[in-house]
Amino acid sequence: MKKDVIIACDFNGKEQLFSFLDKFKEEKPYLKVGMELFYAGGVEIVKEIKRRGHKIFLDLKLHDIPNTVKKSMAVLSGYDVDMVNLHASGGSIMMKGALEGLTRQDGTRPLLIAVTQLTSTNQELMTNELLIDKPLDQVVMSYAENAKNCGLDGVVCSPLEAGKVKDVCGKEFLTITPGIRLAGDAVGDQKRVTTPALAKELGSDYIVVGRSITGAEDPVAAYRQCVKEFLG
Ligand code: C5P
Repeated sequence: MKKDVIIACDFNGKEQLFSFLDKFKEEKPYLKVGMELFYAGGVEIVKEIKRRGHKIFLDLKLHDIPNTVKKSMAVLSGYDVDMVNLHASGGSIMMKGALEGLTRQDGTRPLLIAVTQLTSTNQELMTNELLIDKPLDQVVMSYAENAKNCGLDGVVCSPLEAGKVKDVCGKEFLTITPGIRLAGDAVGDQKRVTTPALAKELGSDYIVVGRSITGAEDPVAAYRQCVKEFLG
């Protein structure tokens, strides 16, 4: 299993993105392209990043009826990205359809990762608005188990939940963990953060780092620090 540091490229256009990437002369970091950048730059930006030799986690969090998700995943698998995701709350038929749509003729496919409950969802919202009356951590683990049973490769979660996910779903089941900060960096809107070193200790497979790298005075040095702590 290949662990890695993924940079969250939360930029709103290609100029910003490529002036950031041009700073990296020696490394080709794994990049996360989310809704903001994808809606701003479309598939052309994805193709250009691929041409430059980066791996891509396309973070579009699909959630729709199974047929739509299956057919959309088939389109995404044609982009040659390395990892895509969906909402586990779409249910088993949707997740299995996604996997089918994603699998290419030759049997290869990008990794398929599930979002369980968003970290912006708390117990109050879940109980009062989603009308789910179970404890949040039980819901997260149950959604992770569903994803695993449908054949998905892993979940997005906090490094603090990685151990429990592995206990429930097995150690091969991947944990993709945002909420990472280098020691001394501003926490911003993240509630519970860990350093890359702690994420490694807690068993994360991939850390997703945004502002600690993109907002750093020297992004390349910040990326190297993350790599040293997490992979070193
Ligand atoms: O800048 P920062 O390191 O906080 O960025 C984290 C990235 O991970 C953002 O792109 C954010 O949308 C994403 N993310 C997250 N928490 C989740 C799922 C995704 O922070 N549960």
